Amino acid sequence: MEKVVVSIGGSILVPGENDAEFIGKLAEMLKDVSKEVQVAVVCGGGKTARYYAGIAKDLGGDTYAQDILGIAATRMNAQLLSLALGDMPDTVTGDVEETAKLSAPGKIVVMGGTVPGHTTDAVSSMLAAAIGADRIVNGTSVDAVYTDDPRKNPDAKKITSMTIDELGDIVYKEHGASKSSVFDPLGVKLAKENRMDILIIDGRNLDELRNAILGKEINGTFVNSH
Ligand code: UTP
Repeated sequence: MEKVVVSIGGSILVPGENDAEFIGKLAEMLKDVSKEVQVAVVCGGGKTARYYAGIAKDLGGDTYAQDILGIAATRMNAQLLSLALGDMPDTVTGDVEETAKLSAPGKIVVMGGTVPGHTTDAVSSMLAAAIGADRIVNGTSVDAVYTDDPRKNPDAKKITSMTIDELGDIVYKEHGASKSSVFDPLGVKLAKENRMDILIIDGRNLDELRNAILGKEINGTFVNSH
C-alpha cells in the first residue's frame, strides 16, 4: 500500500468560515482514501498561530516564544481534525518517530508542529521520511506554484510540473529565512534527500486533495523528486 503524508495548512482547516462542515467532510474523505493508501496528516496553525505569535511579539517575546505559540495552534488544529476522525487526544505529541510508529494501513495519524525553528511543511517531510512515504501532499491556499506572484503579476503562469531542484531554487532564493513560502526550505531539502515527490494543491478543494492523495491527476503542481 502506498504511503502519503498530507500537510494541511491552518488557513485551509480553519479559515473562519464553515470550519466544522469542512473539517467533517475532510475527515470523511480521509477515511475513504485510507482504504487505498496509508495516510498521515500534519496540521498547520493558520491565523490562530499568527495571532498568538503576534501578541507574543508585541509583549517582547522572541522568535522562540512566537514559535512555541505557533506550535500550540498547530496542535489545536490537529485535535480538531482528530475529533472529526473520531478520536481526539488530550494532548498531541510533537514526536515524529512516535507518530510514525502509530501509522499503519487503515489508521490515520494526525500531528502538528514539533519544535521551534521550522514550519509544519518541514514536519511533514520528517514524518514522510520516517514512514517511508511515497509522496507529500501540501494542501495550501495557493492552488499551485506560479512563475511569479499571480496576485501581483497578471502574466504569472501556473507550473504544472517541476523538479525538486527547481522548487529548491524558488524556496531558497525567494524567501531566504522567511517562514512564509510555498513549501518550507527544510521540507524541500528532506523531500529531495528521501526522494519524495511533493504535490502542491488547493487544499480547500476536496476532490483535488483526494486525487493528490491517491496519486491521480491534479490541477496543482507536481514536484518530481526522482
Ligand atoms: P505553520 O506550519 O502553520 O506555518 O506553523 P506557516 O508557514 O506560518 O503557515 P502556512 O504554511 O503559511 O499555513 C505555524 C507556526 O508555528 C511555528 C512557526 O512559528 C510557524 O510559523 N512552528 C510550527 C514551529 O516553530 N515548529 C513546528 O514544528 C511547527
